[in-house]
Amino acid sequence: MNRLNNKVAIVTGASSGIGRVTAKLFAAEGAKVVVGARRQVELDSLVEEIRAAGGEAVAVAGDVRSEEFHNALVAVAVDNYGALDIAFNNAGILGEAGPSTGVSEAGFSETVAINLTASFLAAKHQIAQMEKNGGGSVIFTSTFVGYSFSFPGVAAYAASKSGLIGLTQALAAEYGQQNVRVNAILPGAVDTDMYRDMNDTADKQAFVTNLHALKRVATPDEVARSVLFLASDDASFVTGTASLIDGGASITRT
Ligand SMILES: NC(=O)c1ccc[n+]([C@@H]2O[C@H](COP(=O)([O-])OP(=O)(O)OC[C@H]3O[C@@H](n4cnc5c(N)ncnc54)[C@H](OP(=O)(O)O)[C@@H]3O)[C@@H](O)[C@H]2O)c1
Repeated sequence: MNRLNNKVAIVTGASSGIGRVTAKLFAAEGAKVVVGARRQVELDSLVEEIRAAGGEAVAVAGDVRSEEFHNALVAVAVDNYGALDIAFNNAGILGEAGPSTGVSEAGFSETVAINLTASFLAAKHQIAQMEKNGGGSVIFTSTFVGYSFSFPGVAAYAASKSGLIGLTQALAAEYGQQNVRVNAILPGAVDTDMYRDMNDTADKQAFVTNLHALKRVATPDEVARSVLFLASDDASFVTGTASLIDGGASITRT
């Protein structure tokens, strides 16, 4: 409890899955949270849940492809809570999947726009504010896919998500002196809507489960607890990392 007392956080992709659970954990640990995604109804119910549990949160609905959305998220954090200490840039899509020879330019570009370009735009506005209040922690949601592991049919997803690792390193090097830490998390498979949409048969789920040394997929809460570490002062000397949370998928060949 209270590991994020007096901290102000932005969480994108907060309407479901990893983002939703992380926003609740941040609030339970004392952070004031600005939650963003496109689905207003889901965001409103999240804010209600956080407030009912005694936490503080406010929702801003929008699309992460819009630079104005990131500007608004930061402005709401500062106007409501006076600062910005933590940003969890987690919104993402699988995008157009399937054999790469059939992937459209529009599908590839949309995936890069949501998974990579939007993360840059987010960090641009967040870091500008963090510099003003003495530093902060930026966390991007990448993935093990395209880093330690891949499989056919996910070129756009893998390319966009591995780009976040370069972005993490560049921003960490650039803003370390301003006490801004920047890290990426690389989850293995996590039991969310995205995972279930992608693995819609028992066979597919068995295949994915078997990729992990732990022979199961993660719960969103298991990922949220790693994000909490990177967000908190416990990680005060951790920056520029690509942090695997993959149940041992990277060291498994059976
Ligand atoms: N599940 C896995 O196995 C797994 C593994 C590794 C990494 N990841 C990554 O984890 C992150 C969260 O995914 P999840 O598994 O929790 O799936 P999810 O439940 O589908 O969550 C995706 C979130 O991103 C938001 N989002 C998508 N496009 C958006 C846009 N254009 N503008 C604003 N928000 C947008 C969605 O909100 P709205 O639809 O309301 O906009 C939703 O809140 C993603 O970046 C994903 O790539 C997932």
